[in-house]
Amino acid sequence: MTLDNRAAVSGPRAAPAASALGGPTRAAPALECRGLSKTYGSGRVVLDHLDFTLASGEFVAVMGDSGVGKSTLLNLIAGLDTADSGEVRIDGMPMTQLDDDAATRLRRGKLGFVFQAFHVLPHLTLAQNVAVPLLLNGLPRARATEMLDAVGLRGRGGDFPRQLSGGELQRVAIARALAHRPRLILADEPTGNLDPDTAHEVLALLRAEIKATGAAAIMVTHSTQAAASADRVLILRAGGLHDARAGDDGRDAHEPGSSPDTRLPGHDHA
Ligand SMILES: Nc1ncnc2c1ncn2[C@@H]1O[C@H](COP(=O)(O)OP(=O)(O)OP(=O)(O)O)[C@@H](O)[C@H]1O
Ligand SMILES: [Mg+2]
Repeated sequence: MTLDNRAAVSGPRAAPAASALGGPTRAAPALECRGLSKTYGSGRVVLDHLDFTLASGEFVAVMGDSGVGKSTLLNLIAGLDTADSGEVRIDGMPMTQLDDDAATRLRRGKLGFVFQAFHVLPHLTLAQNVAVPLLLNGLPRARATEMLDAVGLRGRGGDFPRQLSGGELQRVAIARALAHRPRLILADEPTGNLDPDTAHEVLALLRAEIKATGAAAIMVTHSTQAAASADRVLILRAGGLHDARAGDDGRDAHEPGSSPDTRLPGHDHA
């Protein structure tokens, strides 16, 4: 199973989620990875005792060569792939120790996903698409309309995805990802299918909505321009995450904010 085919509409049944529409709890970091390791059957070490913490409201870009393990990292965080060792905690809850049902509930309530290929459901209207996480969390649908307004699609809730451009579809996906006020957004190359101007607009929107809702976010991208939208840029290399501006010293990115020089200028850090 991969992030792409399971995460957007995850879970066999609806159940209220702890944080859904209640906002982030702030008590625990949005995300903690401790000693996370993953080797595929071929013996390929993808993650090697990776340590990483993401604070509330923090927006981090993860870059790295193709095949280095960026999507694998997102899959492990989302509980869609199994680590060989180590721990993932989302809002203090141990994703790596939960059974499938509990992991599904955690994913459904606390995570939001944005994909390169949008993954907007073609037979549902825009409002219905955005309402999916609300329904899965037993929350009122009214927020779908609010979210469409927030992403610049006021009055388009009755339209179908085929009537939209790629940039507009990604706005719908962002509205859907954030509708249930998740604690953490996982975005895998969210501008990979967009032209540079549209990518810029979509990233400005993603950033604004992340900051408005207090969600933390990890965005995997191959684009340095896209990465510049983030508060910090980390490089996945040799199984670990390294600050993009810290040089090739092999240090893992243990704690956010511990290296002020890795913050990109010109952004708030709400
Ligand atoms: N299910 C799997 N079984 C075996 N190997 C896998 C599996 N999924 C990924 N890999 C391997 O793990 C490595 C990391 O893959 P991953 O998809 O995480 O890379 P990525 O950094 O996201 O690359 P890209 O930038 O091209 O999307 C690759 O060598 C890939 O072939
Ligand atoms: Mg990938």
